[in-house]
Amino acid sequence: MSVAVLFDKKYVFFGGKGGTGKTTCAAAFSLKASERGKRILLVSTDPAHSLSDIFDKTIGPKGAQILDNLFALEVDPEIEAKKYIEGVKRQLSGAVSSVVIDALQKQIDAAYMSPGSEEAAIFDKFIEVMEEAEKSFDMVVFDTAPTGHTLRLLSLPKLLDLWINGLIEKREKALKLFQRASGVVKEDPILRILQKRKTLFEKAWDVLSDHEKTAFVFVVTPERLSVFETERALKYLESSGIKVAGIVINGVIPRELSGNFVDKRKEVQEKYINVIYEKFGDKVLTKIELLDKDVWGLMDLRIIADMLIAG
Ligand SMILES: Nc1ncnc2c1ncn2[C@@H]1O[C@H](COP(=O)(O)OP(=O)(O)OP(=O)(O)O)[C@@H](O)[C@H]1O
Ligand SMILES: [Mg+2]
Repeated sequence: MSVAVLFDKKYVFFGGKGGTGKTTCAAAFSLKASERGKRILLVSTDPAHSLSDIFDKTIGPKGAQILDNLFALEVDPEIEAKKYIEGVKRQLSGAVSSVVIDALQKQIDAAYMSPGSEEAAIFDKFIEVMEEAEKSFDMVVFDTAPTGHTLRLLSLPKLLDLWINGLIEKREKALKLFQRASGVVKEDPILRILQKRKTLFEKAWDVLSDHEKTAFVFVVTPERLSVFETERALKYLESSGIKVAGIVINGVIPRELSGNFVDKRKEVQEKYINVIYEKFGDKVLTKIELLDKDVWGLMDLRIIADMLIAG
């Protein structure tokens, strides 16, 4: 397999342990894809934004154009979380009496102010980006936060679905009681809003688990912890119905280097490269060498991109 299998996807996610090169690979891949004539949106869902750093350009939540065919966006989880809650409350307050709103708002706050609210907001943004991307972009590339964060994010549609189902059930019960008591049957705005959200989450889950459209790529360095974390993440994702499309091994010390220290590090790397092939051989897309400098700016990214494509 090679990275080429990713070029005809609509959504490509780069994930992995902290510091393995997710941002670097996502940016290099986006650059390559855009140079092949595709219109690319590169989105960072990592609260610690580094797309601005890597492209040496201010990007932010409004987004920026990097090249003719390459656009980037940094989703700010805090701002999105706030916007999300405000939005839901506004929608509801137009629909029902203040007593009902109070009760509902408490539930909304409980769900969205709890740990995970930022992921929930990012998820909402993901849905928005998805809808926008259908019309305006050939591919959306996601530079995600380190593994734990991303896994929580990806398990959200199912959690939110449960939460919304609970709300819908409660609402339906209340409506039935009201109808029985009053004999009045009318369309319920809250139920409509809840059902609309449920449809959105279901749509998002359909896209995430559609292997024709969406690919998850893990960036792993040939080191013990990185390999183990990747193995756990892969198992978790696959058990929840998301297949991982490929693995990129990053930071491999160039073969031609030698010396006492380097030789020892190379031995460690060789050991873990073997482990990676044993564990996920058919998924390995490519190996990227460690450069003798930090990666930033288009020139550096092209060097990485060439290695990414070379396979
Ligand atoms: N192949 C490489 N050669 C040299 N430096 C590299 C290489 N890949 C990544 N780096 C450097 O390693 C650091 C971490 O890379 P990067 O920011 O892409 O990782 P990340 O997985 O996105 O990190 P985080 O988990 O913090 O988001 C950066 O300084 C980057 O320039
Ligand atoms: Mg990063």
